[in-house]
Amino acid sequence: MRGKTVLFVGAGRHQRRPIARAQELGLRVVAVDRSADALGLKAADVGEVVDFRDVEGVIEVARRHRVDGVLTVSADRAVPVVAAVAQELGLPGIGTEVAHAMTNKIAMRRRLADAGVQQPRFAAARDLRTARAAAETVGFPAVLKPADSGGQRGLFRLESVDDLEANLHVALSESAAGEVVLERFHDGLELNGIVLARNGEALPLTLSDRLRPPGVGFGVGWIHVYPATIYGDTLAEAERVATHATRALGLRDGIAFPQLLVTDEGVLVIEVAARIPGGQMADLVRHAVGVELVEVALRQALGEEVPDELALPQFQQPLAIRFLTASPGPLPTGRVVRIGPLEPVLAAPGVVQAETYLEAGETIRPVRLDADRRGYVIAVADTNLEALERAEAAARLLEIIVA
Ligand SMILES: Nc1ncnc2c1ncn2[C@@H]1O[C@H](COP(=O)(O)OP(=O)(O)O)[C@@H](O)[C@H]1O
Ligand SMILES: [Mg+2]
Repeated sequence: MRGKTVLFVGAGRHQRRPIARAQELGLRVVAVDRSADALGLKAADVGEVVDFRDVEGVIEVARRHRVDGVLTVSADRAVPVVAAVAQELGLPGIGTEVAHAMTNKIAMRRRLADAGVQQPRFAAARDLRTARAAAETVGFPAVLKPADSGGQRGLFRLESVDDLEANLHVALSESAAGEVVLERFHDGLELNGIVLARNGEALPLTLSDRLRPPGVGFGVGWIHVYPATIYGDTLAEAERVATHATRALGLRDGIAFPQLLVTDEGVLVIEVAARIPGGQMADLVRHAVGVELVEVALRQALGEEVPDELALPQFQQPLAIRFLTASPGPLPTGRVVRIGPLEPVLAAPGVVQAETYLEAGETIRPVRLDADRRGYVIAVADTNLEALERAEAAARLLEIIVA
């Protein structure tokens, strides 16, 4: 890969380390982000301020710098842009159709239905009339979501038509396409998978529990536990669904992020993203099985083979990630006056990585969105549950004073 040029679409906090990693591997990095202050722009060899919704603008940057490959890390909205740029310049990519099916929740559900993949009952809508009809089809409790958003923006659990009417406009406003999807709400254990699609084959790398808080934050992954706490037939079924859904959506070469629910009716697909997820999932995979997703993604973006040494799990290390969130998480709510040192957290038993994004003056609110996660602790142990206890205990060692 040495000497080649790669374009990162989106260059915020979550892209900074992957950009540095690309440079370590000998690549020249061009990056675009709409914000001139984006941390990744400064880290890149060439950083340009371009809003990636301006696809022509991104294509122009890619041409001018003669990039050999294009990718994004964590940003779901950049996935169709990356595919379009790659297609336009004749670079390796997942294709615009697959990118659409793996980012637009309505297109995704239709494809999964065609392939016989188990999923919640669903219906699409674009205004109050069609939303009421969708609610008739789906029933309550339901989940309302924008067709093309992420990070739990515009996501609501609905108990009634009143809830639908109260929240529809927010969900619609989060959708660039002006569409929402209503789905039946299902209780159950949520699982996150990482599946590597390589030459058309889907290889499951990890499957972990994604625990969520009660209440309005019901969609936020605030704890990850590896390995998942399911066994036997359920585990086999979850792996089958994760790989089947990845193939059904047409991903031949890329990293898939299937999100599943283990319910009384079987293992259902929530969604499958076509990217390295945010929320420290690449760290989870690295600590848990020794696979470097960023390196894999870079090779795929450049059209290089991903050899078994890079692709296959090297070991299985139980771990847990505890995100720093407000109650019932370890953080207090209120305006941050002082943030204590991270050292005691890093020195706690089993801790392999920890970080906080907190800043003095900011207000910590009860957890509702992905963005309410204000840092994390990753701990390893001989078992997943012991790792969780360690991560919980370590997270409580961070002293936060609020007003
Ligand atoms: N049908 C559903 N039943 C139960 N929980 C759901 C359902 N759909 C979504 N959720 C919860 O909301 C979260 C976010 O939904 P998702 O469709 O993945 O949207 P986003 O793009 O915001 O990640 C899921 O990870 C899950 O915790
Ligand atoms: Mg999701």
